[in-house]
Amino acid sequence: CKGINGLDKVVLRGPRGSSAEVYLYGGHVTSWRNDHGEELLFVSSKAIFKPPKAIRGGIPICFPQFGSHGSLEQHGFARNKFWSIDIDPPPFPTNSKSFIDLILKPSEEDMQKWPHRIALGPGGDLMLTSRVRNTNADGKPFTFAFAYHTYFSVSDISEVRVEGLETLDYFDNLQNKERFTEQGDALTFESEVDKIYLSTPTKIAILDHEKKRTFVLRKEGIPDAVVWNPWDKKAKTMTDFGDDEYMHMLCVEAAAVEKPITLKPGEEWKGRLELSAVPSSYCSGQ
Ligand code: BG6
Repeated sequence: CKGINGLDKVVLRGPRGSSAEVYLYGGHVTSWRNDHGEELLFVSSKAIFKPPKAIRGGIPICFPQFGSHGSLEQHGFARNKFWSIDIDPPPFPTNSKSFIDLILKPSEEDMQKWPHRIALGPGGDLMLTSRVRNTNADGKPFTFAFAYHTYFSVSDISEVRVEGLETLDYFDNLQNKERFTEQGDALTFESEVDKIYLSTPTKIAILDHEKKRTFVLRKEGIPDAVVWNPWDKKAKTMTDFGDDEYMHMLCVEAAAVEKPITLKPGEEWKGRLELSAVPSSYCSGQ
């Protein structure tokens, strides 16, 4: 159906009331609701749903470049291209009846194409799977970075904790991309943060104390994790982001940044992210 500014979108519905919305522009998830209809992703009230600007919020896909680490535009081109519905998808292992297969081709004639599945699990989990295959006939390897740039909706950033990144090494984008080691405590937030945690565990949790909700991220094939919140000063410089919206969002992004992935002709990479949102008490002691 049609979304904002007439852009095509697909709505997925789970068996007990959960839903997800996916714009073909960017192959971009813009909404994920639980069985009670509560929105779990943050999308800015100032988001511009118009090419070439990527939609501010939801889950943009950063590919084949992350940030400004390369010669392409910031975060690569996948988030500002129109994806198509894939009528002949490769097999994706799934236990979901509610999914959409998308494909990105850099141009109509191009041999390169990147399949991507977005699925809602029976319990309302959101599952993203992306594949990249090197179809170069010229024998050349293909190198890329990748991120699911997920904007989580949180009630109050000062009440949020992130578990799973303690004691890890990270690059701090706010300190000349220098390498540091995280302390032993769960992360909490009281100022701008823009860090790339390296080779993280496959499970990361975001605890929203006020909402009594925990987001659990499970990732495969995507070793790093970026944590970003622009805080007040940076927020004011962003035209597509409200001045106070930083209080209600946190990006925790499954990413492959430190070691870009190289595929020889014929090789394939697969990355997967599974998101669930559960009442906090269910998670204690896990
Ligand atoms: C994060 C980066 O992933 O995305 C930040 O680490 C960046 O450095 C942020 O500011 C937002 O990027 P953009 O291009 O969507 O404004």
